[in-house]
Amino acid sequence: MSPRKIIIDTDPGQDDAVAILLALASPEDVTVLGITAVAGNVPLPLTQKNARIVCELAGKPETSVYAGCDAPLSRKLITAEHVHGKTGLDGPPMADPTMPLQDQHAVDFIIDTLRSEPANTVTLCPLGPLTNIATAFQKAPDIVAQVQEIVLMGGGYFEQGNITPSAEFNIYVDPEAADIVFNCARPITVMPLDVTHKALTTKARVAAFRDMGTKVGDMVAAWTDFFERFDMEKYGSEGAPLHDPTVIAYLIRPDLFSGRHINVAIETQSELTLGATVADWWRVSDRPANATFMRDIDADGFFDLLATRLARL
Ligand code: RIB
Ligand code: CA
Repeated sequence: MSPRKIIIDTDPGQDDAVAILLALASPEDVTVLGITAVAGNVPLPLTQKNARIVCELAGKPETSVYAGCDAPLSRKLITAEHVHGKTGLDGPPMADPTMPLQDQHAVDFIIDTLRSEPANTVTLCPLGPLTNIATAFQKAPDIVAQVQEIVLMGGGYFEQGNITPSAEFNIYVDPEAADIVFNCARPITVMPLDVTHKALTTKARVAAFRDMGTKVGDMVAAWTDFFERFDMEKYGSEGAPLHDPTVIAYLIRPDLFSGRHINVAIETQSELTLGATVADWWRVSDRPANATFMRDIDADGFFDLLATRLARL
């Protein structure tokens, strides 16, 4: 089977960085047409810079990186330096990137790519707030039908929220954008907290990164050491959830995941539950199914895949 053509939309973020590394290490499974940065974990100037730092770490400076939206559709930006650090990639200091940022706006790159590639051949992989994707859909409604699938990290149902009691960060930052995406009527696969909270960076799993003896392995281990402190303190868990690489792992090994095709609606009105992903897991509403909402992961298989592929870089 030929590799899937993907656009990674991202707000690096250490976990985004691992997702990008996994994608760039897997050319037999995915062809990265471009990486589009969005404001999220940290402001846009940092997310676009971090995306380029990660591409250079992967030894892929030829990757096209684009800067996108610097704020949600209609709300003030909320960031997550408390988790990812001031730079968004806190851990060992990293040199500024030398590879160029593309001149084209990320939204226009998404539009042009979906218009020029054959229909049903491009998968969108959002790893942050959905602002770029929703803006592209609003600016060029004709591209929506072109999308093969949207595989995103976001939301939570049984796990509820991580930035508020009921909302996960990516959805909470731009709930109006999420509402547009979840109503686009194209195939959507969701990696929510229900899955990512089962993919914890235990000591043994982090040691596997460090034991690679490569710069990539050392960086991934060091990033994990940094960002897991927040979740371990909060959840009292051994290790932190490695959220975003589950999106790329799904493209490579969908058998590692299981979930249900159900209706997922986004709360955009209530202040109390703003950004909640109301997943009709028990199919009690008459709202039509619009997403495959994952709930389980073969965590050992996921980390084995990660270690095997990242060792290539
Ligand atoms: O809630 C986790 C998500 O928010 C991840 O994508 C993380 O990188 C942040 O963007
Ligand atoms: Ca992210």
